[in-house]
Amino acid sequence: MWSANVSTGKELSISGITATALAKEFATPAFIMDEADFRARATNWNSALNAGFGDNAGTVYYAAKAFICTEVARWIKDIGIGIDVCTGGELAVALAGGIDPLKIQVHGNNKSVAEIEKAVSVGVSTIVIDSLFEIERVATAAKNSGKVQRVLLRLTPGIEAHTHESIATAHEDVKFGFSIASGAAWKAIEEVRKHPSIELRGLHAHIGSQILDTDSFEISAERLIALLAKYRDAFGAELPELDLGGGYGIHYLPGDEELTPTVVMQALSTAVRTNCENNNLQIPRISIEPGRAIVGPTMFTLYEVGTIKDVTLENGDNRRYISIDGGMSENIRPALYAAEYTAVLANRTSSAPLLSTRLVGKHCETGDILIRDIALASDIAPGDLLATPATGAYGRSMASNYNHVPRPPVIAVINGKARVIVRRETEADLLGLDC
Ligand code: LLP
Repeated sequence: MWSANVSTGKELSISGITATALAKEFATPAFIMDEADFRARATNWNSALNAGFGDNAGTVYYAAKAFICTEVARWIKDIGIGIDVCTGGELAVALAGGIDPLKIQVHGNNKSVAEIEKAVSVGVSTIVIDSLFEIERVATAAKNSGKVQRVLLRLTPGIEAHTHESIATAHEDVKFGFSIASGAAWKAIEEVRKHPSIELRGLHAHIGSQILDTDSFEISAERLIALLAKYRDAFGAELPELDLGGGYGIHYLPGDEELTPTVVMQALSTAVRTNCENNNLQIPRISIEPGRAIVGPTMFTLYEVGTIKDVTLENGDNRRYISIDGGMSENIRPALYAAEYTAVLANRTSSAPLLSTRLVGKHCETGDILIRDIALASDIAPGDLLATPATGAYGRSMASNYNHVPRPPVIAVINGKARVIVRRETEADLLGLDC
């Protein structure tokens, strides 16, 4: 839940820097990021992929959508893993961070022609094709620039992954990929083969996000490998790559489970080996795309308490509302996915009795609730600091300017030093867009 270098003792601190010092220097709300933890997690996924698959290990593509900025792109480059981008904007950040285009994989269910042309012209390693239209578009862009673009096909293996409906992506009724069951995947394979300017390297599936068991990943691998065998039978050649996507779940609340890299990679390795053996196939190069599992636990959000209100409920009970200086603009996940977080008092300890509390933001909306019900110390007062752990994934990256609230900064902490890696937005930034 907390990143490796956070201590929640007397006062919350990260790499020896207290919450009070961070708030004083950088103000609140702010995303505080544990750089060493990010590097360790990225490295661990890479090592687990290599341990699980040996010579058949492909690339760990960090899913930039979870959180990216130029500095993090530089870390990715430094660590030596790849990156998955799904828009021209994410591609621009990856390139600005100096990532080798050969380590960039491009996703998206509706890439614009301009995005495809840019990806082809900078020489990205792979474009993951998501529709029949895109086969034509990528083939044309590659042909026009005199290249042969490597592609994967994104498939829908028909899996109801155990996660929130909005972040499950591999059942039949979704916008992503080509369905294996309906025959759309096979048709796409046949289409791709008609274009000499694109080279089909293999198959891809991403079955959803925040998945906490390995079964769905194993079934996905089994279905993709069955299609690899069908391909070999039909065309007499084996496709060399398989990308099994991301989606590995993390720890949000005390007592939650998380999927460790070793557990996932061992399960996938067994599933891939068994299915390849059963189909008499060589093991393809296996790549993965973890986003949340790398960045999620590395950040917490630091808030200051603003107002406190006690409300009497219909049944006569009391509910305390504590408002912090952020809300749904920098953490939309509770409102969007009913995601649950916890919070702790960060600037001191308290032995006051606990009260049933609702933690809310400052936005003009009843649904601006960060935590519906949490037991917090009854002496928490305006000016106290609260921290919510595990906000690194899809927090800052999904932040908005709702109510013209400037988006918070990201502060990286390592070896006892804190620095801004994404600065706080200002009112001038917001006004600067108005013509
Ligand atoms: N690869 C592909 C093709 C994806 O679409 C995604 C996430 C990932 C990898 C990374 O998944 P991860 O390992 O981070 O779970 N906004 C939602 C999550 C949406 C995920 C979209 N695709 C949330 O806040 O839970």
